[in-house]
Amino acid sequence: CFLGIDIGTSAVKTLIVDSLERPVAGAEVALTTERPAPGWSEQHPDLWWQAVRRALAEMSASVPGVLGRVAAVGLSGQMHGAVLVGEDDRPLRPAILWNDGRAAAEAAALNAAMPDLGEIAGVPAMAGFLAPKIAWLRAHEPETLASTKQILLPKDWIRFLLTGEFATDMCDAAGSLLLDETRRQWSTAIVAAVGLEPGQLPRLLEGPDISGRVTASAAEATGLPQGIPVVAGAGDAAAAGIGIGAIEEGDAFISLGTSSQLFLTTASYRPNPGALVHAFAHALPNRWFQMAAMLNGASVMAWTAGVTGMTDLGAALEAVATRGRAISPVTFLPYLQGERTPHDDPAARGVFFGMDGGADGLDLLQAAVEGMAFTLVDAVAALETAGPVPETLAAVGGGSRGRFVVEVVASALGRPIRRYAVGERGPAFGVARLARLAVTGEAISSVCAKPELRDVVLPNAERQAALTARLPLYRDLYRALKPLFP
Ligand code: XUL
Repeated sequence: CFLGIDIGTSAVKTLIVDSLERPVAGAEVALTTERPAPGWSEQHPDLWWQAVRRALAEMSASVPGVLGRVAAVGLSGQMHGAVLVGEDDRPLRPAILWNDGRAAAEAAALNAAMPDLGEIAGVPAMAGFLAPKIAWLRAHEPETLASTKQILLPKDWIRFLLTGEFATDMCDAAGSLLLDETRRQWSTAIVAAVGLEPGQLPRLLEGPDISGRVTASAAEATGLPQGIPVVAGAGDAAAAGIGIGAIEEGDAFISLGTSSQLFLTTASYRPNPGALVHAFAHALPNRWFQMAAMLNGASVMAWTAGVTGMTDLGAALEAVATRGRAISPVTFLPYLQGERTPHDDPAARGVFFGMDGGADGLDLLQAAVEGMAFTLVDAVAALETAGPVPETLAAVGGGSRGRFVVEVVASALGRPIRRYAVGERGPAFGVARLARLAVTGEAISSVCAKPELRDVVLPNAERQAALTARLPLYRDLYRALKPLFP
């Protein structure tokens, strides 16, 4: 069996699959995020380890003996987070996450100091990336930075606890903005520009490379067999791609999780920094991808349902679908935590616009679904500045579960959307595949195959017309309000 561990933002998810890729056990342990100041977002790495141990214990309780059957482990996780490890091998502070906006000024300064940064690292600096956070720490917490022995991405903290090794994969390394994407090596120029020593950065590996083996103490703490390999794995975006076989030029999909992405696999490195597209190393050698990364994904639907007192999101979306309005009377800018592609604007915020006294919670929820769909329209437009986006896109992630949401997205994009039978297994499934590659010697193309199709959701003509007519207002609203965000 193969185990995938995904250090998500809202939960740690674990999945064990057998050699026929049948799920044998799975667990999900929720995580909370601290917001110590407006625009900040942190989680303590200790929380991730506790959650990993709990998830493994839960799987072991529901399927006794299952951990003993694991032959290899893959790690995935939220990208861009900064984990600072001290001389005593303990985190020096809570991790600063991908959706943390504090380093906006430092990102701008980095771009000004290195105009070719986006060409080297795949995208210009933006607030949530690791590199500008280092500059922020230098200015605001110099003592923490001075005590930092090693800087890791979130999932790599779990690797360290499992194997004792400091290592990362190319995709997560790309999200630090310290990687030379062409060479797939740390960029000496960028590392020097942010004032780091090369020794503070982890060893770089390709996704299926073995990074280390489960130590005796980790085996004791987790129940995993001692000595089994832990592969490098991948940042969550690329890991999701591996899970649905998006590994060849032109394979494209939308991921609807806490955040959302439009992901397009490329056979060569093709940066497009002007459109704030992320051109990053994929989780397999000699492959890259172009990605529009939005900070406000399916989470905006859950948030809207929550604040309007709807406790069951699935039932609430069903109610919106049943009411059958082609479009909500309300327009929603979903920028609850600022936005990356296409705005690079950590200060942007959510806005409901156009309510009259008749507007109700379902209208607001429908507007939230439509707002999220509009971010994907902007994402396609961003990618299209560099080349064509395939006519049919796949959708994965928890937000793709409900047909109504996917139909709204298909209608906004005017494109059919394919859903796979296993599209919700997510990044943990993808890195379980990388773990398998490391130990079986099978061909990449057979392990990273495309899963069975579940259905194809077509645009609804009436909805498509209404959303197309609404899009200019959605875009104008952001433009008009931009100067007013704090
Ligand atoms: C991608 C991104 C998010 C995080 C959190 O650029 O910021 O997908 O990886 O999941």
